[in-house]
Amino acid sequence: MDGNGRWAELRRRPRTFGHLRGARIARETIEACAELGIENLTLYAFSTENWLRPLEEVSFLMALLSRHLRRERETLIKNNIRFRAIGELDRLPASVRAEVDKTIADTAHCTGLLLTFALSYGGRQDLVEATRQIALKVAAGELDPLQIDENCVAAHLATAGQPDPDLVIRTSGESRLSNFLLWQNAYAEFLVLPTLWPDFSREKLLEALAWYSQRERRFGKVSSHAESPATV
Ligand code: IPE
Ligand code: MG
Repeated sequence: MDGNGRWAELRRRPRTFGHLRGARIARETIEACAELGIENLTLYAFSTENWLRPLEEVSFLMALLSRHLRRERETLIKNNIRFRAIGELDRLPASVRAEVDKTIADTAHCTGLLLTFALSYGGRQDLVEATRQIALKVAAGELDPLQIDENCVAAHLATAGQPDPDLVIRTSGESRLSNFLLWQNAYAEFLVLPTLWPDFSREKLLEALAWYSQRERRFGKVSSHAESPATV
């Protein structure tokens, strides 16, 4: 979800104005995905690098997140949406962490859309942490290094048990991954839209899904009937 700041600057408003609108678009996108029967949606809400922004902006984003989780919890439950979070959650302010934990707990029984918020998330950090967990198991004699394969690595990432993303949508025209699910996105279809995130909409989501449905996913093979290597 990129482009909140530029959207606000174009209107000569503070960046926070863009974040407010961006949060509303996130809410509408979540509801649209649930309605369309999408099984997994991961929103890159805050990267490990975003901590380096000015303190006022970081504080604003944290307060916004907290408020939205508090307000939207009932709607999530009503829409059968299960919430989870990946990233360095320990770095979140205690009050935000409490809202995150409560939202996870209150929606744990939901069976519809699995909504993952990447919060203080970094793909490299995810891989470092997985490596550390695997090394600890080897050191403790619980894991034979010869058993370390792709499934083993995937099972130690923050997304363990979830399928790899099929489609990544990046708004605001930047064609980079910005440390987002590095391992998991190996075969994701990557769509860069010029649209700034606050201008994203249900129509644009439907267009993106139509684009995705036209892609031929070969996973490095040649046949047009290649099967997904992802374990779902
Ligand atoms: C994305 O918009 C929102 C977050 C990172 C939370 P930006 O804040 O990155 O907006 P630009 O890139 O400055 O326009
Ligand atoms: Mg940005």
